Amino acid sequence: ERQHQESLFLVNEFAKQFYQEQMFETDRGKSVALSYFKQRGFREEVIKKFGLGYAPAGKDTFTLTAVQKGYNADLLKQLGLTSQYWRDFFRDRVMFPIHNLSGKVIGFGGRILVKDVKAPKYVNTPETEVYNKSKVLYGAFHAKQAIRKRDECILVEGYTDVISLHQADVKNVVASSGTSLTVGQIGLIKRYTENIKILYDGDKAGVKAALRGLGLVLEQGLNVKIVLLPDGEDPDSYVQSVGTDAFRNYIDQEAKDFIMFQAGLLQEEAAGDPVKLSKLIQEIVESISKIPDPIKRSLYVRECANLMGVDEQLLVNEANKAVEARL
Ligand code: UTP
Ligand code: MN
Ligand code: MN
Ligand code: MN
Ligand code: MN
Repeated sequence: ERQHQESLFLVNEFAKQFYQEQMFETDRGKSVALSYFKQRGFREEVIKKFGLGYAPAGKDTFTLTAVQKGYNADLLKQLGLTSQYWRDFFRDRVMFPIHNLSGKVIGFGGRILVKDVKAPKYVNTPETEVYNKSKVLYGAFHAKQAIRKRDECILVEGYTDVISLHQADVKNVVASSGTSLTVGQIGLIKRYTENIKILYDGDKAGVKAALRGLGLVLEQGLNVKIVLLPDGEDPDSYVQSVGTDAFRNYIDQEAKDFIMFQAGLLQEEAAGDPVKLSKLIQEIVESISKIPDPIKRSLYVRECANLMGVDEQLLVNEANKAVEARL
């Protein structure tokens, strides 16, 4: 079993090297893929560090090469690298290898080079024996030391956000890869820190995604802050436009405690409407009741009562009811 896993890792490592060679050593790779990354502002150092590459456009270039070199065709399929009829799964895409915590390649994301209404922007390795999407955070291998050192994990949405931030020397960063956080992913973060800063895209979808993860993250006892980026920006575009220092200043200044962020957001929506307001209080109470630590809970109750201008004792009673309902 263990040996089987090791052989899967070996095949994935071969694929990563193949995609890298295709990008650095073929004319087409250089002209479409390497130049794509460079146009995005990625320097060679970071491109190599993250093992970025290029999957050629031919229908089975990768699969044929792998089989010729003696790699087992069944394993190629098990890893999702080869599809039905011996076609390459990733074709004409720039490639982002995904590593586990020990740096083994467990899967890939592939980005399309030119916008296409029919094809998805990214395709990712399907679930395999070594790639379980819900337990993976992109960039964790490269971030773990910095997360521990800074005692904080920055969570972003995308592969390119992680890479850009690394290049800008912000290294305590991982990506959920566009999905909302799972318990498994939170468990990964908790090995290194209890403090998480969510830095999602500055659009409605980003805010929604951030709020969706809230309940789980609170239940797991993490301290959560949220930073909203300027409209239309994501961490990659923003750090490249303002530079490291301004980026750091921005996230330090804009980071809001998650519960207070939620309270402020909902309060705006409810403005002056008593029915909405009471529903809002229930939602906040619900969030607070998920925090395992009773001392933290009571501090939040007080702050929220102040912020929303409601009687503190009332909020205490509601929160206690909600906590009991959870037991
Ligand atoms: P985004 O749409 O924000 O892309 O999706 P991005 O990361 O900013 O990428 P660029 O800058 O356009 O290249 C965030 C993440 O959601 C996942 C990917 O992991 C992506 O990095 N995603 C997005 C997919 O898996 N499939 C898609 O079609 C789109
Ligand atoms: Mn990685
Ligand atoms: Mn987005
Ligand atoms: Mn982007
Ligand atoms: Mn984005």
